[in-house]
Amino acid sequence: MALLEILLADDPILRQKSKKVRQIDSSIQRLMDDMLETMHDAHGVGLAAPQVGQLLRVIVIHLPEQEPLALVNPEVVKREGQRVVEEGCLSIPGWRGEVTRSVTVTVKALNRHGKQIRIKAAEDLLAQALEHEIDHLDGVLYIDHLTRPDKLWKIPPREEEGSPEEPEPALVG
Ligand code: CO
Repeated sequence: MALLEILLADDPILRQKSKKVRQIDSSIQRLMDDMLETMHDAHGVGLAAPQVGQLLRVIVIHLPEQEPLALVNPEVVKREGQRVVEEGCLSIPGWRGEVTRSVTVTVKALNRHGKQIRIKAAEDLLAQALEHEIDHLDGVLYIDHLTRPDKLWKIPPREEEGSPEEPEPALVG
């Protein structure tokens, strides 16, 4: 596995639309593994392939105390309700914003073995992460969903490893 470089928000690649994956071969599985490693290293809970310079419809999500998810060609098939949440992105380090997201999100996708799966999430970090990462595949960033243009603020730099700290507030990735 390898750590990949995470592109920052001023990179035009992040505003492009990613292509569907036609075949889940070993290069795609390797990409998923590298994305998970890169995401863990950066302390995020999600990462989308365009963030590492690959314009492919692949995302990974790993929430605390859950199994990691690696999804190919994920698609939101249903969303309901609206809620206001705090959000961050590994491509916009040092910032948080207040955004509008759906309450429930249903996603269909292929897993790393090419099996069709369906995920329903309600009012939780998974629902938020699914919308955030799938947005990346269409060139959309969370700052496009701010509740107001001024609802974006700087956060202090991360404390050193091992020091006591608050849990990351909904840093998505
Ligand atoms: Co992001």
